[in-house]
Amino acid sequence: MIHKTSSEVGGMGHSVKRKEDLRFIQGRGNYVDDVQLPNMVYGQVVRSPYAHARIKGINTEAATKLKGVLAVITGQDLEKAGLSWMPTLFHDKQMVLATGKVLFQAQEVAFVVAEDRYTAADAAELIEVEYEELPVLVDPHHATDPDAPIIREDRDEKSNHIFHWEVGDKQATDKAINDAPVKIKLSTAFQRCHPAPLETCGCVADFNPATGRLTVWETSQAPHAHRTLFALVAGLSENDIRIISPDIGGGFGNKVPIYPGYVCAVVASITLKRPVKWIETRSENLQSTGFARDYHMTAEIGADRDGKVKALRVGTLADHGAFNAAAQPSKFPAGLFSICTGSYDFQASFCEVDGVYTNKAPGGIAYRCSFRVTEAAYLIERAMDALADELGMDAAELRLKNFIPSDRFPYKSPLGFTYDSGDYKAAMNLALEQAGYKDLLKEQADKRKKGELMGIGISSFTEIVGAGPAHTYDIAGLKMFDSCEIRVHPTGKATARLGTKSQGQGHETTFAQIIAQELGIPVAGITVEEGDTDTAPYGLGTYASRSTPVAGAATAVAARKIRDKAKKIAAHLMEVSEEDLEWEPGKFYVKGAADKAKTIQEIAFAAYTDLPPGLEPGLEAVDYYDPPNLTFPFGTYICVVDIDKGTGEVKVRRFIAVDDCGNIINPMIVEGQIHGGLTEGLGIAFMQEIGYDESGNVQGGTFMDYLVPTAVETPHWETGKTCTPSPHHPLGAKGVGESPNVGSPAAFVNAVVDALSHLGVRNIDMPVTPWKIWRLLKEKGQAG
Ligand code: CDP
Repeated sequence: MIHKTSSEVGGMGHSVKRKEDLRFIQGRGNYVDDVQLPNMVYGQVVRSPYAHARIKGINTEAATKLKGVLAVITGQDLEKAGLSWMPTLFHDKQMVLATGKVLFQAQEVAFVVAEDRYTAADAAELIEVEYEELPVLVDPHHATDPDAPIIREDRDEKSNHIFHWEVGDKQATDKAINDAPVKIKLSTAFQRCHPAPLETCGCVADFNPATGRLTVWETSQAPHAHRTLFALVAGLSENDIRIISPDIGGGFGNKVPIYPGYVCAVVASITLKRPVKWIETRSENLQSTGFARDYHMTAEIGADRDGKVKALRVGTLADHGAFNAAAQPSKFPAGLFSICTGSYDFQASFCEVDGVYTNKAPGGIAYRCSFRVTEAAYLIERAMDALADELGMDAAELRLKNFIPSDRFPYKSPLGFTYDSGDYKAAMNLALEQAGYKDLLKEQADKRKKGELMGIGISSFTEIVGAGPAHTYDIAGLKMFDSCEIRVHPTGKATARLGTKSQGQGHETTFAQIIAQELGIPVAGITVEEGDTDTAPYGLGTYASRSTPVAGAATAVAARKIRDKAKKIAAHLMEVSEEDLEWEPGKFYVKGAADKAKTIQEIAFAAYTDLPPGLEPGLEAVDYYDPPNLTFPFGTYICVVDIDKGTGEVKVRRFIAVDDCGNIINPMIVEGQIHGGLTEGLGIAFMQEIGYDESGNVQGGTFMDYLVPTAVETPHWETGKTCTPSPHHPLGAKGVGESPNVGSPAAFVNAVVDALSHLGVRNIDMPVTPWKIWRLLKEKGQAG
């Protein structure tokens, strides 16, 4: 049972204002680039202008001679220290600084250290690298052609093929699709995009030769994992490494991997015995750090004539760039892509994925996404629309007919997941009602008669967030649990530390609310700290919306451990037995005598001053939580668009988002998460692509061409919610941060395709630009 708490206490369900915003709105945040240390020097990465070229030589002389330059590090220097390659987070290795050849444009080739940033940048320009250009592979569809250039000469396998992965029952699926009276096949792609956090990546590495300690302030979403990997790769003693992730200006998965700049800054600091700061520029961030998606997918559905789906077959080509640096659990080469059966009750399904190398930046990171669930949700939601089109059936009706019924949970999907809980019909019905769906359909029909283009797009996505369980999920071998340590001080205030790391999600507020809920200590008296490996308990960090499902659960369990001890102290203070006590947030009282009570503050004081015999002093607890399952949030999104025939421009007139993330901790923060994620989804659907020309030149490498939506393009988001608690989470909560990014791209594109479907259009690949639409209209003789 979730007790109600007062607004002063601020437990679950209160829209407590974000505690951290006080410092942010006053300009008093402390980001990595704010860190200033005595004697600090600056690093600059020299990058390759070519996508594929042999390095014939590197001349560092002129750069080294420049006044103020302290060091120039090349791949050969790192080779001597055994550090020219480092492991990626996914069964591969990556060059720290290129040796032999470069494999993508903007690859790291050298690292210059100087007294100031300007000198470092000037010196980088003076480094002369002699390149011999090699044939470039850009199109993943040609990666395994017999004449394709082999990108990774370091591997035993002389092929650009990385992996083949399959799951499901191929035979049953093939048969069901063959026998089905209605079949559709949709080929589409989720383009390469980039999280583009406001703050780029960077670090300050400070090796202290007197103590032998290395402190690294780093833009890391997973500071503990980074500490362990630094220790393993560089052979440093882990207790001598301290990673501090201070305030982070957005991560979205971009700040999970370890990038060459961090390693070079550490090497430079150890060599020079001075602190070294390295901060990326915007272009460096977009061009060289972890990209997302780049999945080229085909879905086939077999269905009955009445629209009941039978089977789903999915084939995917995954472009991983030059190194397989996907940040995902090591048993899952395609992340959690096999959630692609979505919200629908397929009897059979089969999914296969092939990964390939190309001459592009490495990655495959989980951009506001649980390891490829975004690609999966996009594919199934687009494919359901294609089926509706084939059947001539309403897209909402088709979905309602095929939803997994709410009484079938826990539901075992044909591709192996056990969904914890769901009521998809309820979310859909609420969204249809909020949208005024019937009226919209009528309006669309009227407009069509007049030759106007209006579209309605639906996406009824199922999410999968909160990895572990640890027996199945890991990052680079580190099990995916998480942790919380709570210390209640004698005056009844508390400090909590967690293994996660907020990048703007409001953890300092929401985790305090969980403690307030469980212990009745007001939120104002609780400090939440994350990101310092010297103080926080070990955890796997924040990405893939895992903080609430995993660390949030750890926080509740740690608080309950404290409450158990508090009960013993309360019984002692009131001279009754523990069995005689009842709890309500903030106090224990004697059953049947509510005025005989001890508050949590009185109990906290007694924990240090008046303890029962034999009980150890203090009021603290730590919990390392290994979730029994993931949580499965869901929602229905409805998008309404109007298209200008003259320009191909799409106006998102309305967007209704009904989300279900189980029990909510802070409704205002959840609303903010949804607004942010929808805005990112809008950018992906209509504006963003990290493209490459045939020579491997990055096309979307600056904000001039990789567009971020502003208030001008962003529509008013209409939100709604249903609540289906997770049965296994101690608070019934599911994660939510990534849902809007996962669910919305399909709603946007479905709306555009719906607006054009009567012209015979069944697919448009993202980004859906005015130019693409105008060309289509022109082809169909419809351009105004
Ligand atoms: O891992 P990450 O923090 O990115 O994602 P999340 O667990 O989905 O949480 C995002 C924010 O929403 C956090 O501040 C959560 O505590 C909050 N939240 C909430 O208030 N209620 C939920 N049921 C889920 C998340």
